[in-house]
Amino acid sequence: MLKNRKITVAVTGGIAAYKACEVVRGLVKLGADVRVAMTENATRFVGLVTFEALSGHPVATSEWEHTPEGAMPHIELNLHADLLLVVPATANILAKAARGIADDLVSALILAHRSKVAFVPAMNRHMWGNPATQRNVADLKRDGAHFIGPDSGFQACGDVGEGRMTEPADILDLLPGLFSEKPLSGRRVLMTVGPTYEPIDDVRGITNRSSGRQGFALARAARDLGADVTVVAGPVTVKRPAGVRILPVTTAREMLGAVEGELDRSPYDLFIGVAAVADWRVADRLEGKWKKDAGLPQLRLVENPDILAAVGHRAGGPVTIGFAAEATDLLENAYAKLEKKGAAMIVANVARDALASDTNRVLVVTDGEVDEIGPADKDEVARKILYHAVDLLEEDYGPEDDL
Ligand code: CTP
Repeated sequence: MLKNRKITVAVTGGIAAYKACEVVRGLVKLGADVRVAMTENATRFVGLVTFEALSGHPVATSEWEHTPEGAMPHIELNLHADLLLVVPATANILAKAARGIADDLVSALILAHRSKVAFVPAMNRHMWGNPATQRNVADLKRDGAHFIGPDSGFQACGDVGEGRMTEPADILDLLPGLFSEKPLSGRRVLMTVGPTYEPIDDVRGITNRSSGRQGFALARAARDLGADVTVVAGPVTVKRPAGVRILPVTTAREMLGAVEGELDRSPYDLFIGVAAVADWRVADRLEGKWKKDAGLPQLRLVENPDILAAVGHRAGGPVTIGFAAEATDLLENAYAKLEKKGAAMIVANVARDALASDTNRVLVVTDGEVDEIGPADKDEVARKILYHAVDLLEEDYGPEDDL
């Protein structure tokens, strides 16, 4: 989504300016075409040579210097931009932007912006909490500006609280959403992701090779399409998506408990069961660490609850989508699972191809049709699956339901 995007990064003067280096580097790595502008104060925190090296272009700091942008860098840099990203954004630049003050290059850039503008605030928690800052943020949001963060946590000044800049990796994760349409806006999506782990004793257990990659790709795609996303996640090994609520669990029974707890608390529009739930657990879990000289443990396995089926057959429950990881007979098994799980859609794939891989090839099976997606990277597969989900939701809440 960021490949070939033209992005102007405006760096203002806060200690978090050093983290903007990582943002620029990440954007370039993702294929974006990046230009950087800095305030005078920002150059006190990070040398402009650093941003020149990272972006591969000269950095603009003033309206009065001759730059490759020509005599009017605030216009030229905006012409360049599909997105003007202000990172870090100090309380001062938010105040100036909210009031339309343009007394240096960066504030003039913001006033003259013609594309999307996004602020990534970073400041002391008292500055962030100050009603003046909150008023400015509200005004900027009303005017259509996007905000990423701030997060809560340890601050450079030693305080702990809200105002800490969102981590560069999370900024990079959230930026594609700014370019996405929002057909899931106002929808609540609940998902299960990753493997489950069923303990045998205190150190050993039954699990599988699911990484959580496809599930988190779906969570990101749903978030970017505008949904409010909650993920009940087993012990995953990949980076968690930003801007998504994660409820960590270990076993299948905990996963079911967390899912039912969520559904009991408030209604969801869509449930997607991506988790590779361990089918069995040990009936009598062993205490401590089973020693080899105690002989072979006699394990009795019992079946785990079927979470997808529980949600699919729930009266008044959400529209339900399941996955089917199969070794053979993809289509036949998918149809059987539609029925058995009470699902509106089954996404079927060949288990061996999907587990712990970056790509996937799936069949999307509903009552009426079958569509093939991929082979493609898991983000693209996720987006396409969710467009099928959008269709299902529109059918489910069709015009006759509005009467
Ligand atoms: N699933 C679930 N709870 C389980 C088992 C599976 O919610 N205890 C969900 C998975 O998240 C997936 C779908 O059911 O969306 C199908 O999972 P899969 O492992 O393919 O099928 P199973 O139901 O386990 O059947 P089988 O292993 O016999 O193919």
